[in-house]
Amino acid sequence: MFVVGISGSPRKAGNTEFLLGEALAVSKERGFEVERLNCSELKIDFCTDCGDCSKGRPCPKEDDAARILEALQSADGIIVASPVYFGSVTAQLKAVFDRTIPLRRQGLKLKEKVGCAVAVGASRNGGQERAIETIHNWMHIHGMIVVGDNSHFGGIAVRPAYEDRIGRKTVVASANKLCDLLERTCPKGSCWGGD
Ligand SMILES: Cc1cc2nc3c(=O)[nH]c(=O)nc-3n(C[C@H](O)[C@H](O)[C@H](O)COP(=O)(O)O)c2cc1C
Repeated sequence: MFVVGISGSPRKAGNTEFLLGEALAVSKERGFEVERLNCSELKIDFCTDCGDCSKGRPCPKEDDAARILEALQSADGIIVASPVYFGSVTAQLKAVFDRTIPLRRQGLKLKEKVGCAVAVGASRNGGQERAIETIHNWMHIHGMIVVGDNSHFGGIAVRPAYEDRIGRKTVVASANKLCDLLERTCPKGSCWGGD
């Protein structure tokens, strides 16, 4: 089975990439294949609703979106992590979300994949739950199955993330819950396999 992680931070090796690494390490330890996609390394233009994907055509933009769509389509589980920016996700992550519209318009390709969310901010109550809600909205609109951390809404941390022992526990718990559900629903291997 295959778990894809997306970090929405424009900053390399920051708090979000650290926490996503911890979440993916859980999946890897449990025998899942993993791939990470860092917005800090990707070139993603905005969706302009040109309508090509509604007509069954591929997206005409030439950037890293095709790579992201391919990975998401092959995934069984998807972990999305973002810094909190003004109480929401980053613009970079929102651009990624919008560019996944072909997967919805061309056959609801993320339907029933399992997803969980992680958010990290500078303040303890800086809008992490709101950022997570935005990530969950994207997942629900793709027909995905959303899990939290067995207690609340997902991985919620404060920077510096490596010092946030309680926050890191919620990230690990969310990743474990995602893996638990995948093991229960796809006991023999990949449910999706990129089909
Ligand atoms: C434009 C901007 C807006 C931010 N807004 C918030 C916010 O609303 N709440 C919060 O707790 N932190 C906010 N922060 C702080 C970041 O969430 C925090 O620094 C986070 O750890 C960055 O993650 P990174 O290290 O992965 O880039 C903001 C930072 C920036 C640059």
